Amino acid sequence: MSSQENIVWHQHTVTRQWREQRNGHKGAVLWFTGLSGSGKSTLAGAVEAQLAALGMQTYLLDGDNIRHGLCGDLGFNEPDRQENIRRIGEVAKLMVDAGLIVATAFISPYQEDRQRVRALFEPDQFYELYVDTPIEICEERDPKGLYRQARAGKIAHFTGIDAPYQPPENPELHLDGTRSIDDSLMQIIQLLQQKKTISIAN
Ligand code: ADX
Repeated sequence: MSSQENIVWHQHTVTRQWREQRNGHKGAVLWFTGLSGSGKSTLAGAVEAQLAALGMQTYLLDGDNIRHGLCGDLGFNEPDRQENIRRIGEVAKLMVDAGLIVATAFISPYQEDRQRVRALFEPDQFYELYVDTPIEICEERDPKGLYRQARAGKIAHFTGIDAPYQPPENPELHLDGTRSIDDSLMQIIQLLQQKKTISIAN
């Protein structure tokens, strides 16, 4: 028996559309994906700061933080990463229903897992943003010293070393992670304007 049997979806009075109207923008997910050290969190933080400064309702879900709580029981083998991304996808969906622009920063290395999250959303609610930074540069940056540890054999299943990263096939944006934050930020804001998620008066 499925656990969903005998449970109906309750349509509440305060709808996403109502919240979006109140907020003056739509709800959406900016799903950053890329290697550890590619710049996902920095970029996600910069976009959130810019949108929040414009008075928009935002939230940032960041891998390193979420893995302390909601996903604290998960490791880095394939099924655990799959479950990590599934939970984040469901949380992001609730946040979009709450009318927020959610930025997420998870490696999310598997195409199939990202595809499953995308399928939770309506078109123009989910933007896959690929932060493309060569592994050599990520490794040189090594902000948490984890590549060094992985190379020394102290961390198993490290993405890019002994675990795969499957690049997105059709991301809404393919960002060059070696360019400036401002440059990528501009491209993201332009995309959100084009798609009418936000509207900024000139
Ligand atoms: S994901 O693959 O499931 O999407 P997530 O983004 O939540 O990963 O977590 C990645 C972060 O965990 C990395 O930025 C790094 O700081 C840390 N980490 C610890 N162990 C690993 C590992 N084996 N592979 C990748 N990242 C790891």
